[in-house]
Amino acid sequence: MSCLTDNILTRRSIRAYQEKPVNSEDIKTILTAATWAPSGNNLQPWKFAVIINDKALIKKLSALTIYEHWVQTAPCLIAVFLDPESSEGLAIPKLHMKHVQSIGAAIQNMLLVANDLGLGTCWIGEILKNEKTLKNILKVPLMLELMAVISVGYSGSIIQKGKRKEVDESVICWK
Ligand SMILES: Cc1cc2nc3c(=O)[nH]c(=O)nc-3n(C[C@H](O)[C@H](O)[C@H](O)COP(=O)(O)O)c2cc1C
Repeated sequence: MSCLTDNILTRRSIRAYQEKPVNSEDIKTILTAATWAPSGNNLQPWKFAVIINDKALIKKLSALTIYEHWVQTAPCLIAVFLDPESSEGLAIPKLHMKHVQSIGAAIQNMLLVANDLGLGTCWIGEILKNEKTLKNILKVPLMLELMAVISVGYSGSIIQKGKRKEVDESVICWK
């Protein structure tokens, strides 16, 4: 099995973190991986807000989700946004959907590279309901669309075995 396949199969969402801080170089590597994701028309529609080793701010943001109890243990949160200005004036069919897919690819790159660096992550979508408040707290432009918050840190829990359906259950046809 290749290292990449092994990384994909062993990555799990981490929902408890050690006190240990994360270093900015690792976060930079994670963001670089994000920006090397494919994107529709190579428009790279992503923007990131990084909150690192700032306990007070992390606590404030954690309160925007029902997962506050473990999100606040993360030493780093990365808010991922879709920037509609990346495609201003372009009339490309289904562009918003392509942007959302591109950002999904960028986030997956982040999770995998973090795993490779020995860092745990969790993709937090539940926080999207509080997009407006999050943008106010972080003072990010209102036109940016919140896609997810990713928690990053050294795992503070035993990594569980994942669960998936059998591949065949997801294959509609194979001709
Ligand atoms: C779009 C999206 C939103 C998610 N939102 C949350 C969330 O709000 N809270 C959470 O604990 N996990 C969240 N997750 C993580 C999933 O629960 C997790 O990936 C799934 O259960 C499979 O587990 P694994 O990542 O350990 O393989 C989200 C994942 C995705 C892709």
